[in-house]
Amino acid sequence: MEWFAFQPAVNKELSANKELSANKEPSANKELFAEQIPVRQLAEEFGTPLYVYSRQALETSYQAYYQALADGPHLICYAVKANSNLAVLNVLARLGAGFDIVSIGELERVLAAGGDPEKVVFSGVAKQRHEIHRALEVGVHCFNIESEQELEVIQEEAQAMDKVARVSLRVNPDVDAQTHPYISTGLKDNKFGIDINRAPVVYARAAQLSHIEIAGVDCHIGSQLTTIEPFLDALDRLLLLMDQLKTQGIHLKHLDIGGGLGVQYQDEVAPSPSDYLVLVKQRLAEKGYGDLTLVVEPGRSIAAQAGIMLTRVELIKPTGQKNFAIVDGAMNDLLRPSIYSAWHTIVNTLERPDGENQMYDVVGPVCESGDFLGKERALAIREGDLLAVYSAGAYGFVMSSNYNARCRAAEVMVDGTEAYVIRRRETIAEQFDSESLLPPA
Ligand code: LLP
Repeated sequence: MEWFAFQPAVNKELSANKELSANKEPSANKELFAEQIPVRQLAEEFGTPLYVYSRQALETSYQAYYQALADGPHLICYAVKANSNLAVLNVLARLGAGFDIVSIGELERVLAAGGDPEKVVFSGVAKQRHEIHRALEVGVHCFNIESEQELEVIQEEAQAMDKVARVSLRVNPDVDAQTHPYISTGLKDNKFGIDINRAPVVYARAAQLSHIEIAGVDCHIGSQLTTIEPFLDALDRLLLLMDQLKTQGIHLKHLDIGGGLGVQYQDEVAPSPSDYLVLVKQRLAEKGYGDLTLVVEPGRSIAAQAGIMLTRVELIKPTGQKNFAIVDGAMNDLLRPSIYSAWHTIVNTLERPDGENQMYDVVGPVCESGDFLGKERALAIREGDLLAVYSAGAYGFVMSSNYNARCRAAEVMVDGTEAYVIRRRETIAEQFDSESLLPPA
């Protein structure tokens, strides 16, 4: 968490804080910074809960992919679903990133953020006709086709528009990604992709279609993978498929190995993009496919560590059983702990040298027992303290909702000593702007 680090507290400002000095707050040694800005200042200025992203962190994780792939033909398609804020997309577009999208909403975001449609791959199990139409209109790089039916629909739409749709088949290699079942996608009983054994027949059909151009093959076996073996198993199966396709006279131009590389949330050790891609490239070269364009669709490994969520301790509530730290952020703001029992490290943004750790369940105000950000966390905290929930840059804000009629949080991007609001806090009026009453009786 290089870009979010504890640095000596800005004491002058702390002692100027009347509330703190009135409470005779002992001076803290260190406080959390986002790049060059104390996060305390961001919370005071923009309120909480607040998503804070580091531009440098985003750029550094993108560059890790670029450096691993720069020596050969490649396309890095950031998976927009991980964090689709326009400013995030724009930062990546400026670096030359492509994008992996799964809906027309994501496509329009990419375009609005200055992304190049020619570097867009369109994934997703059920693309609708209007979405296919728009993607053809703007000229996306490729459709990742997930079923035989979809192939026919894309042919029809392309024909009607007198365009040629470049496609790649997303195959399901039946590989266990050894990750959480909800984010595992490469097993036979998952809804995703075309059975790899069936793929040769579907490629043969695609080759016959007048408005389809076969561009490549694609697979994505799951997310938050912390070992490389499942990726390599899937790759080996794709390579066998490609050998088979050659005998059918079908030569592919690209190989899309999807996203899925994990990050460290707790004590996992996640491979780096280069650890992983060196092995992929080696395998391709060995099998005579070194000149294929390698496409990757990383989401989490680009955005997760580039963001934190700040949340304020509202109340400390000891019960007979445990201590609850009730904070102003909740499951509607950050859903991952509730639905995947995901661990996100939680820290007090102000170190309390004199403070004693106690165990807390850090919970939000939403009316569900499943509303928690972390359970059994050792923290030295008081009411009013500002906590940071780490690794919240991916699948954080994007999965937030208005549950309990809560306004969605604001998002800020820090760049050195500057902070930019990249999404202002939602207002209650905005929440029901699009609703209407029935006509009077
Ligand atoms: N490509 C495809 C086709 C995908 O379905 C996904 C993620 C990605 C790329 C990016 O995968 P990544 O590099 O981010 O692992 N909400 C869950 C994660 C869902 C991932 C869905 N697909 C979570 O919070 O863990």
